[in-house]
Amino acid sequence: MQTMNAEFLLGSADKSQFPEINMPEIAFSGRSNVGKSSLLNSIVLRRNLAHISSAPGKTQQINFYNVENRWIFADMPGFGYATTGKENKEKWRKLNFEYFESRKNLKLIAALVDSRHDPMDTDMALIEWYEENQKDYLIILTKCDKIKPGAISARQKQLEHLLANCNHCKEVLPYSSLNGLGRNQLIGILKKIIL
Ligand code: GTP
Ligand code: MG
Repeated sequence: MQTMNAEFLLGSADKSQFPEINMPEIAFSGRSNVGKSSLLNSIVLRRNLAHISSAPGKTQQINFYNVENRWIFADMPGFGYATTGKENKEKWRKLNFEYFESRKNLKLIAALVDSRHDPMDTDMALIEWYEENQKDYLIILTKCDKIKPGAISARQKQLEHLLANCNHCKEVLPYSSLNGLGRNQLIGILKKIIL
């Protein structure tokens, strides 16, 4: 498996600082601790590109990466721990939706869902918003190394069933940042994305 060139561009908690770069962009979103940063590292095969938090929800900014001079990856702040309280929730909402609404080159949203649990209301609310706003997205079931193959396919079927009438979901993809499950498929999907 080959590593990819990747560099951290900037972190931004404000729309005015989002980078202006003409490359297709992919956003990685999902609740705190679901495995967004680990997944980014596993794609490029670099252990420390994106910061993996032992204390979840620390990152309340969007981190932008240039990957292979081909894509921009945006690591979105997770919903959860640091978004308790009205003010924090509002900040999170504003940053996320300003991002989703303003990024002209946003080609795909990778919506991460923990394979071990039923999708949470916050997961489903985001997915509904992507549908209503006609954003193409992909469901990535994270941490599949922690459950049995039968449980992986059951979770995949559950999500496929839930999203049966959705028009913008491209795929439900089982993934593990630990053992590489789903990586080749994900890279295949990314390679089809061009401006
Ligand atoms: P925030 O930045 O807080 O929103 O979290 P995040 O979604 O970026 O999650 P992160 O990648 O930091 O991972 C959270 C925890 O889950 C870490 O302890 C990771 O090691 C663990 N983890 C992430 N992906 C996997 C995986 O595929 N398998 C296993 N076993 N653990 C994982
Ligand atoms: Mg993270």
